[in-house]
Amino acid sequence: PERPTIRSFCIIAHIDHGKSTLADRLMEATGLLTERDKTAQYLDRMDIERERGITIKAQAVRMSYKYDGVTYALNLIDTPGHVDFGYEVSRSLAACEGALLVVDATQGVEAQTLANVYMALDANLEIIPVINKIDLPSADVEGVKKQIEEAVGLDASDALLVSAKTGLGVPDLLEAIILRIPAPHGDVERPVKALIIDSWWDSYKGVISMVRVFSGRLRAGDKIRMMATGKHYDVIDVGAYAPEITSMPELSAGEVGYLVANVKEVVDSKVGDTVAAADDPGAEPLPGFKVVQPMVFAGVFPTDNADYSELRDALAKLTLNDASVTWEPETSVALGFGFRLGFLGLLHMEIIQERLEREYDLDIITTAPSVKYRVYLKDGTETVIDNPAKMPDIGDYEAIEEPMIIARIQLPEEYLGAIIKLCQDRRGIQLDIKYQTSKRVQLTYEMPLAEVVFGFYDQLKSLSRGYASLDYEQGEYRRAELVRVDLLVNGERVDALSLISHRDNAYNRGRDLCIKMKDEIPQQQFEVAIQAAIGSRVIARTTVKALRKNVLAKCYGGDISRKRKLLEKQKRGKRRLKAVGNVEIPQGAFHAILKLD
Ligand code: GTP
Repeated sequence: PERPTIRSFCIIAHIDHGKSTLADRLMEATGLLTERDKTAQYLDRMDIERERGITIKAQAVRMSYKYDGVTYALNLIDTPGHVDFGYEVSRSLAACEGALLVVDATQGVEAQTLANVYMALDANLEIIPVINKIDLPSADVEGVKKQIEEAVGLDASDALLVSAKTGLGVPDLLEAIILRIPAPHGDVERPVKALIIDSWWDSYKGVISMVRVFSGRLRAGDKIRMMATGKHYDVIDVGAYAPEITSMPELSAGEVGYLVANVKEVVDSKVGDTVAAADDPGAEPLPGFKVVQPMVFAGVFPTDNADYSELRDALAKLTLNDASVTWEPETSVALGFGFRLGFLGLLHMEIIQERLEREYDLDIITTAPSVKYRVYLKDGTETVIDNPAKMPDIGDYEAIEEPMIIARIQLPEEYLGAIIKLCQDRRGIQLDIKYQTSKRVQLTYEMPLAEVVFGFYDQLKSLSRGYASLDYEQGEYRRAELVRVDLLVNGERVDALSLISHRDNAYNRGRDLCIKMKDEIPQQQFEVAIQAAIGSRVIARTTVKALRKNVLAKCYGGDISRKRKLLEKQKRGKRRLKAVGNVEIPQGAFHAILKLD
């Protein structure tokens, strides 16, 4: 049966197209936000998220709106907007019946947005195109409508025209949400089944999960079972964010809200898992559950070895909140005792690195990220390696397989030549090339994840003056001719600076890395020799002369996106220097590899 007075939807938008502003406007129009609250964008909870202008965790608010004499509950479910969080996005979408596709009237549709639109279409959501920023003189409503029709394949004739800034068109949008987005279905009388959209740690309530109920009811006192783990819990509290946490007697089929049970750790309340009644052993889980696997790995070391236990405590606390970070102890000859962390992607890594420094006030060095390789050894055994330092010597292995991704790149066609060359240089294999409009092209490439991890995104942005965008999904593992390139500082191998490269690029990578390193390592009282080597063969060398003024001028290409927001906020005043032998190596050196062309 239908739950006619409920609507659940999310907002799909490219960065800066106005998602947060529009969410605020909707909350204001439904009385959830007062003038005083306006400065705070409620959907972005954590400080860092607000500062970086990105949303990491899915959140949901419940608004109440009276239309035609009937009061509706409108659930706005926030979705993370970055490729690193694709699975989380898919679970948020599964909790919705509709999506607002917000497009900046002066910018048009972007590739990252498209990936989410396709996901929303796959999830059978009703998509309402919303053209935002129509107050701007450069707004091109007709052009953007046409683009939505051509690039996305949606009928844009009844797109809503709004200005999230002035509030123009917002009442019509609320009406469209009620009239066009289907009401949820769900039998209140059946045993309970709810989807976990997101979970986080709250110092007062413990683990809080955002859920969408598909059947039955959830009430305090109920006995429930998490289907992925099979563990049983007692429900302590349910309710909704409106926008503050508000306890309610129950959450019933079709509703979205929070659930607090006596769950001790977020890993026990997994995104995508199904909450079932403890006394319903035959329950079938809701579709789509996946255990998320980290794709990118890096070492994290305290700059001062004495801070090791502090770092460990910080990681323990941090992972209370983010079950997608994995960590285990790691020892490096150069850097001492630290941890190897696994992340969903590079942005995720930057976020965690920054939280460790800012929230936990730690001085840390992170090594360059690596992917997970499958290595077939000469003795017939197979091993998995996520740390270049641990890659066996050339000659000790039979073959290596590396993870591939399927990358979708959207770009104005004037940059096509440059981007195709970039993809080829990065060992990409073209799968598809498609003109979406006469001016916009979508390229699909199969590419090694490792190549994308190493500065690909920055290059893509600078070659296209910021106009190309990228999204990707995991692909298969494929064999490649890979070798470990070592970096030697004054003759000593610095294990934390080893990298894995394709054999054909190894020489160039080694040489470029030596050159970059020379800029990164400050002058010391003595000369510092930097060498790159494959096995015992030195392939490149540079020298940092004894004390002379060192100018660090780093330039990034024109980058009109999230990356810029990130860069702007970057690091202030941390020491981030590590003595390796008698040479002081700064953080920048460990990431020099990311800046190679
Ligand atoms: P992220 O949170 O970083 O993903 O961005 P977002 O999509 O949430 O965009 P946000 O709401 O932060 O808006 C981006 C910029 O556009 C802000 O400076 C807004 O003030 C501005 N903006 C949003 N909506 C409008 C609008 O309707 N008209 C005008 N002129 N500016 C707008």
